Amino acid sequence: MTSELSVLLRAWDVRKTFEDGALQVPVLHGVTLSVHAGQLTLLMGPSGSGKTTLISILTGLLRPSSGKVELCGEPISELGDGQVSAVRRRELGFIFQTYNLFPALTARDNVMEVLRLKGMAAGEARKRAEDALGRVGLADRMKHRPGELSGGQKQRVAIARALASKPRVIVGDEVTGALDGQTALSVMEILRDHVTSSSAVLIVTHDHRLERFADRVVELEDGELAADRAPNRHWTSSRFDIRASQDQGKLP
Ligand SMILES: Nc1ncnc2c1ncn2[C@@H]1O[C@H](COP(=O)(O)OP(=O)(O)OP(=O)(O)O)[C@@H](O)[C@H]1O
Ligand SMILES: [Mg+2]
Repeated sequence: MTSELSVLLRAWDVRKTFEDGALQVPVLHGVTLSVHAGQLTLLMGPSGSGKTTLISILTGLLRPSSGKVELCGEPISELGDGQVSAVRRRELGFIFQTYNLFPALTARDNVMEVLRLKGMAAGEARKRAEDALGRVGLADRMKHRPGELSGGQKQRVAIARALASKPRVIVGDEVTGALDGQTALSVMEILRDHVTSSSAVLIVTHDHRLERFADRVVELEDGELAADRAPNRHWTSSRFDIRASQDQGKLP
């Protein structure tokens, strides 16, 4: 594999200004970034620094005001909406900060829906959905609707949905925000396992304790890249102790 092929997300001089009537809100000021296969990358930075805006642009949910973006080699900033949707469906699992589950569907059907959209047969989709929900500790919540689930359980359904289609790229926004320390640890281990030589995970977080799972940390400040560094693997917390997870085994 050449190094070019191993770049799964790429932004060149991406700028974004939100226009609200006469008001212009410049948010990204020329971000150039590559996210590589084989790595779990964390995107960190203060609230309002542009993290959600950047991952939305990197994954084709939002258009940059200028600059170029590629997702798995496809120039999504230059494609029409239909083509962008097709690339997203094929290559991406996206975990939203606010989960974005279908309220009328059960946990299992929420996960199945994306697999069906990819053209998977119902039986195979059901099996994959059940497997993914089991991996995040929700084997006994398959038939619950989002309104019957806690915040942390909804977050785990959203994570299962991203994992189930085995995409090349998983991007998540604050994926552990609603989880207790123990569950957050287990979920990060599952996301870590998703990383292979041909797949990548990019996670937005404020939580330095997640650095132990990362290969690289990119920091954004006021819409510009402020750091691109190795993770600090030594953040510790009794609430988030890796030995506790080994003692207790499975997810709660
Ligand atoms: N649709 C929009 N219209 C106008 N301004 C917006 C819009 N979306 C985001 N912004 C502004 O862009 C800036 C960056 O927002 P963004 O959501 O990317 O930050 P963030 O780094 O993800 O913050 P947080 O850590 O709080 O989630 C903020 O000042 C926000 O108000
Ligand atoms: Mg955000």
